Amino acid sequence: MSRIESLISRMTLAEKIGQLTMTACGMAVTGPTIAGDSTEAIKSGAIGNLLNLVGADIVREMQRLAIEESRLQIPLLIGYDVIHGHRTLFPIPLGEASTFDPGSWAASAREAAKEAAADGLAMTFAPMLDVSRDPRWGRIAEGPGEDPFVGARMAEAKVAGFQTADLLREDSLAACAKHYCAYGCVTAGRDYAPVDISERTLHEVHMVPFAAAVGAGVAAMMPAFTDLNGIPMTANRVLIEDWLRARWGFDGVVISDYNAVAELMRHGIAADLPDAAALSLKAGVDIDMMADAYRRGLPIALERGLVSMADIDRSVRRVLVLKERLGLFDDPYRRGKGGESPAALVARRQLSRDIATRSIVMLKNSADALPIGPVRRLAVIGPLANASAEMRGVWWGAAAPEGHVTVLEGLRAALPRAEILHSEGVDIESGDFSGIAGGVDRCASADAIVLCLGEAAVMSGEASSRAHLGLPGMQQRLAEAVFERAKSSRIPVIVVLFSGRPLVVPWLVNGADAVLAAWFLGSEAGNAIADVITGRASPSGRTPVSWPRAAGQVPIFFSERPSGRPFDAKDKFTSKYLDVANEPLFPFGFGLTYGRFAQSNLRLSAPELRFDDVLNVEIDLVNQGSREAEETVFLFTHDKIATVARPKLELKGFAKLRLTPGARGTAHISLRASDLCFLDMQLNPVFEPGEVEILVGPCADPKVLLSASVRLKG
Ligand code: NOJ
Repeated sequence: MSRIESLISRMTLAEKIGQLTMTACGMAVTGPTIAGDSTEAIKSGAIGNLLNLVGADIVREMQRLAIEESRLQIPLLIGYDVIHGHRTLFPIPLGEASTFDPGSWAASAREAAKEAAADGLAMTFAPMLDVSRDPRWGRIAEGPGEDPFVGARMAEAKVAGFQTADLLREDSLAACAKHYCAYGCVTAGRDYAPVDISERTLHEVHMVPFAAAVGAGVAAMMPAFTDLNGIPMTANRVLIEDWLRARWGFDGVVISDYNAVAELMRHGIAADLPDAAALSLKAGVDIDMMADAYRRGLPIALERGLVSMADIDRSVRRVLVLKERLGLFDDPYRRGKGGESPAALVARRQLSRDIATRSIVMLKNSADALPIGPVRRLAVIGPLANASAEMRGVWWGAAAPEGHVTVLEGLRAALPRAEILHSEGVDIESGDFSGIAGGVDRCASADAIVLCLGEAAVMSGEASSRAHLGLPGMQQRLAEAVFERAKSSRIPVIVVLFSGRPLVVPWLVNGADAVLAAWFLGSEAGNAIADVITGRASPSGRTPVSWPRAAGQVPIFFSERPSGRPFDAKDKFTSKYLDVANEPLFPFGFGLTYGRFAQSNLRLSAPELRFDDVLNVEIDLVNQGSREAEETVFLFTHDKIATVARPKLELKGFAKLRLTPGARGTAHISLRASDLCFLDMQLNPVFEPGEVEILVGPCADPKVLLSASVRLKG
């Protein structure tokens, strides 16, 4: 008998349920705490998994209790939200998505895993793969943005980075993809609200990144808190058992979200805790995080006949298999050895700076305001100019509030000879505007103004939905006063905009000479921003989400299906608003560089494709600007006539090309014909003969795309 089967045969019911229970030990609490005395519970085998416990020593001690003082000596699985770094922070996921570089996505996950594993952790509750088209939803900050293709590539890269090819490694973490599924579609962008979307959208958009995570071998999966078309995901047997496990072949562990099993009662599908526990276990949820519903409810559910011992054993087996795959039985202390070399820490900081630099999206640069030329005096103004803790963004792992480079610090380091004048002007959120006059005065003698505005880090993420997507507090007032002063003195104003979502700030974009979307860039934020402002690096980030002109346009995304009455300015009865354009302020993929790229000569390797073929798509680029820069090229498709209406643009690939001034190059993107399948009326994949348009260009604005056609042959 294997080690695991032998253990299961010796376990009491309480010990089995202990393996299906995950509870917090202090630290970052995101919901009600029921932890109680975890020391005794670990010793008695009543708790087999922990979250929110950080630090090599404390982890080691908890593990020791399980190994040396519990009857069956089963090691603990300890998880934490290691989302975009652990002690060294990288950009928030939405920011990092802007690099459109799977290599970077994997590299930052690798470094995060090393730091977290050194702290004794074996699992991260990441990557977050919720596609979202609604910037009101604060959790858009934690994910890949609006597109499932990007989400799928991010899933693969993150899983590879966290887990490596070998979960046994001392520095690997089990990844837990979340939140399965469609959490990004909460009603009206309000967190935890119900989700009601079509089966087509669910399968074509929201499930795609999760399928990719399974394909990449993700170890665990977390269902969303929310209900989906009436069925809370924590009890969604169809999507967990039938799709995730049976169709996709996922053989890992499903962990509920925080208290989600008990919340089945509030959803109105469980009468009591045993009922909730049974629904969730039957749906395939192996571990109950923080609800204590399995410990309190499953014994009663068993008596009532709602679950069987075989149901419990099946989940226990999965949990023990994961512990075995992580090498915890053979050496429970393999992680938590701490002590990385100073050189490794320096290299990690450098990587963070590099990725942060490439995550910055330049939204505007009129009259080449950026990069700034030689300046004698620079004013660095605004509540986010010198805010170390804010640079961390949402989810900061174990990173202390201090030590994250601010814009002020970064610019001081980059421009040692310039005089840097600093003022906050206003707070991020308060109604106090008494500092505006002083702040504006600081700008009067400057050669350029860097105005650092935006949201506080905690204004995005969980439970941080916003109905107004403008600048909080008195920041608009500060910006307007600065613009007015700058205009009269002809001083360029560079806005550095921090946010966990696209903001609705057309007035700000109008008033500024240059705008950098800085998201939240992590530990090296200020250096990265200074690199771009001074021209040490050319910005190359592209927005992974459309920026609306008005909150009323939400949800707004590029892959909309055609309308039977497409927009026509001359015809009232066509699809439009009376008071705002249909287009976003900045489309998906938009981002300026210090180069000036022209694209031409789109060519396809074949005029026709069969299912197994691969199409090679090439486009020539020339950098007509005077600075080296990196351009991003996107490949979209449009199946014009199909049995089911297809989106006007579907993303199928992207590539990057770095060119010196005057240089020419060719971007190559390959496209598998099988990726042109879509779901037919019964939602079965179909490869339909006919013409497909291939559209290539710098962003999802149809006006700037070159197109060619290919014919699919049955
Ligand atoms: C609740 C969040 O929804 C989830 O993303 C997170 O992993 C857990 N809390 C644990 O902190």
